[in-house]
Amino acid sequence: MAEGNQHRTLRISVLRYNPQEQGSEPRMQAYELEEADGMTLFIALNEIRERQDASLQFDFVCRAGICGSCAMVIDGRPGLACRTLTRNLGAEITLAPLPVFELIADLSVNTGKWMRAMSERLQTWVHMKEAEPDLRRIEEPMDPDLAEKIYLLDRCIECGCCVAGCGTARMREDFVGAVGLNRIARFRLDPRDSRTDDDFYELIGDDSGVFGCMSLLACHDVCPKNLPLQTQIAFIRRKMVSMAWK
Ligand code: SF4
Ligand code: SF4
Ligand code: FES
Repeated sequence: MAEGNQHRTLRISVLRYNPQEQGSEPRMQAYELEEADGMTLFIALNEIRERQDASLQFDFVCRAGICGSCAMVIDGRPGLACRTLTRNLGAEITLAPLPVFELIADLSVNTGKWMRAMSERLQTWVHMKEAEPDLRRIEEPMDPDLAEKIYLLDRCIECGCCVAGCGTARMREDFVGAVGLNRIARFRLDPRDSRTDDDFYELIGDDSGVFGCMSLLACHDVCPKNLPLQTQIAFIRRKMVSMAWK
């Protein structure tokens, strides 16, 4: 950012619509405010809500890029409001809610409902080898390199940016998205999970899973946690193709 830009007047246009409110119609509403040092979009939106318009709806919890709830479309690209510095944007900013997910109002969407349906469908939990694990047994150590690989994929915060940026997810309601394929990659790595590639093929071996993915990788480009989605999707696809030819 140029030094002289520090005290710009920002014009933030927000796509507003509340499907719960009778008579509400989608419309753009613009707000102006003075930019401050280190201002994030999250701070700017809070300032607008506190000083200009208490009715503006958007979500946040952690303010630190951890909870995923402040994801929105920022100048046409999905991202986290709390991790976006206004100084990296122009003076005219456009905000819209993430597509694909159920709209609550304005910039607030119900990612939780979508993520839950995806998790249930893909059974995103460890399927233990024993029916009743012995809780008194000493914990089994995991190879540190493997633990690191699992941790890398576990960093997903379920923000929904990859889904909002995905062409297939926009066309198919049942597409599990990069977030779902990443989950499968994560449980496939886990030595405690008893599921085989046959089982995973049952879950994602069709067009709502890995074969619906067009591999254009918008998901990879927009993931705010920089998950290796490109590598994971390519790997899972290769595995599932080999299962299909078995
Ligand atoms: S994979 Fe990345 S973009 Fe997708 S939900 Fe997880 S953190 Fe968000
Ligand atoms: S690579 Fe696949 S999951 Fe990622 S945005 Fe494209 S279609 Fe969606
Ligand atoms: S408020 Fe939690 S990720 Fe932005």
